[in-house]
Amino acid sequence: MTQEPKRYLITAALPYANGPIHIGHLAGVYIPADIYVRYLRAMGRDVKFVCGSDEHGVPVTIRAEQEGITVQEVVDKYHSMFENSFREFGITFDIYARTSNPIHHETAQDFFKNLYEKGLFEEKTEEQYYDEVKERFLQDRYIRGTCPNCSNPDAQGDQCEKCGTALSPNELINPRSAYSDATPTLRPTKNWYLPLQNYAEWLRQWIVEGHASDWKTNVLGQCKSWIEDGLRPRAMTRDLDWGIDVPLEGLAGKKLYVWFEAPIGYISATKELTSDWEKYWKSQDTKLVHFIGKDNIVFHCIIFPAMLKAYGDFVLPENVPANEFMNLEGDKISTSRNWAVWLHEYLQEFPEKQDALRYALTANMPETKDNDFTWADFYTKYNSELVGILGNFINRVVVLTEKYFEGKTPSVGKLQEIDQALINAVAEAPAKIAQSLEQYRFREALAYYMDVARAGNKYMQDNAPWSLYKAGFEENKERIATILHISLQLVANLAVLGEPFLPFTAGKIRTMLGLGNTTWAQAGKTDLIAAGQTIQNTGLLFEKIEEASIEAQVGKLEAIKKAREEKENATQKPEVESTSIVNHKSSIEYTDFEKIDIRVATVLAAEKVKGADKLLQLTLDTGIDTRTVVSGIALHYAPEDLVGRQVCLLANLAPRKLRGIMSQGMILTAEEPDGKLRLIAPHEVVVSGSVVK
Ligand code: MF3
Ligand code: ZN
Repeated sequence: MTQEPKRYLITAALPYANGPIHIGHLAGVYIPADIYVRYLRAMGRDVKFVCGSDEHGVPVTIRAEQEGITVQEVVDKYHSMFENSFREFGITFDIYARTSNPIHHETAQDFFKNLYEKGLFEEKTEEQYYDEVKERFLQDRYIRGTCPNCSNPDAQGDQCEKCGTALSPNELINPRSAYSDATPTLRPTKNWYLPLQNYAEWLRQWIVEGHASDWKTNVLGQCKSWIEDGLRPRAMTRDLDWGIDVPLEGLAGKKLYVWFEAPIGYISATKELTSDWEKYWKSQDTKLVHFIGKDNIVFHCIIFPAMLKAYGDFVLPENVPANEFMNLEGDKISTSRNWAVWLHEYLQEFPEKQDALRYALTANMPETKDNDFTWADFYTKYNSELVGILGNFINRVVVLTEKYFEGKTPSVGKLQEIDQALINAVAEAPAKIAQSLEQYRFREALAYYMDVARAGNKYMQDNAPWSLYKAGFEENKERIATILHISLQLVANLAVLGEPFLPFTAGKIRTMLGLGNTTWAQAGKTDLIAAGQTIQNTGLLFEKIEEASIEAQVGKLEAIKKAREEKENATQKPEVESTSIVNHKSSIEYTDFEKIDIRVATVLAAEKVKGADKLLQLTLDTGIDTRTVVSGIALHYAPEDLVGRQVCLLANLAPRKLRGIMSQGMILTAEEPDGKLRLIAPHEVVVSGSVVK
């Protein structure tokens, strides 16, 4: 886009309402988006900034199970937490919506209907994993297993978080249900697929050719590999209980795929915000920018654009400046492992220190690679940069103005070369910072901003007005006045230019200077404050952070890590000793044992499983039913010797398919050191179904 866009629509990824917001969210998405938007507003541009809670999808339902509350309670709880956290950290959305709002349901359903009526979906019946225990179809993150690419044992059905490979559930090795851990079975189900391959050439031209020079390399890289690997149809409907109904007759239990409807949330939020919403979505002179984390790239660069294209007349994103991840003390941030700095907790420890965190996260933003947040770095940055450079300069200027000129801005006298040099540096700063911001280089922009404060400190140091004062105020008054006048102009510039990065601090500086609403367009000038204007010393901009409170944070994380390691050690498989007698396992609670349903069963029939020399198929009378169990004892027992014998059966093991036969339980055996298996049975014949405990 060579011409300046008429208006901007800026979106920030809708966070899943399944856990509180942490520093990774802020650094990856919300801070860069907010800096960008604050900058645009300061430039006087027409901009709308939309976001909201993503209340559907698997993570939300899993969280409800974990917390033992209803899904509705989960989404309500996190939605209001999100609103608070964002407000407290000064993330200035024009609207913070939620995908449970009726307007969103309608918008998403209309979108689906539009594509459906145009015949753009493929209807397909396919076998899908089904959890027999929970009686649910399993997709995406419901299903876990080993990654075929990197062997991560905990890969998700849609993606391996460890190596980043996009997956489909049937590629997982040893799949299991994220709900029950049961091995899933396959069941046919009909769904509606968006044939992404039909959009591949168009996407290639739009992204690979059209945005090769302005999209970030991490984003382009992922898009290219998706397109080169070959796009496939992707199901846009799901068999779930929680979500937005598919707007077709007679389809109870089918919902819109969360990645179909959630991005439409950007549209419905804009609708909720303004009756002018079409201007933002349908005029080609709107610049649409999606701020997201790297795990969202394919959805925002491939799938959602294909949907918008299929619908027609929507604008497409001009850029998708996705960030990489922020780690914490060398470890990946994880909600489930409680490895995070939660925003609500941060503010309890460091009240009113929002800018301290905004600063540390921006200075270290994971723009091109994963970065690491450490408390030590946070502390150093705060002390040596915010306090040492920015705070120190402003404080000195304000205090000296108070002391020498009763807090009134002195007038400027004859300029020297050193003054002119500073004035020139200030004049260049806004454009320099703006250019970095326009290119989504937030760390660089912040560094340029801090350079302005650094230049101010140096100017003070070089001119040492306090020495001139000592040497004789009256004869040096004009020079001292000039130095402080120029310094105060610099402080005013720091307020205006700091707005996007450090909004709370910028507000305080404005109050000190009585600056009113000077905008970015006036920044760079050195006449922002008139001579005679009163400066109020409202105190230090950055109060000290106690070392003890940093140590407390580090200690808290260490305790979490220690607890985790202990837990992991305890659950690690014991090693086999040289005698081949297996080490004892770690202790469990009686309640763990109670979960196991072992019963005595009687063998009614037995036969070899074709093509598997170790397996026998047994038909058992369990007292509660007659069932089939596949057992690996064929090398140790002949089928005809088993009929009529009693065995012990683990009866509530999740059913799983072995060689095409559904096995409903497991026969217990004793394994001798040489690997020989012996059946476990009661010493006397008992009634079938007797419980073993
Ligand atoms: N909820 C998703 C996540 O947290 C992001 C959704 S972005 C949207 O990763 F575009 F779908 F809204
Ligand atoms: Zn992997």
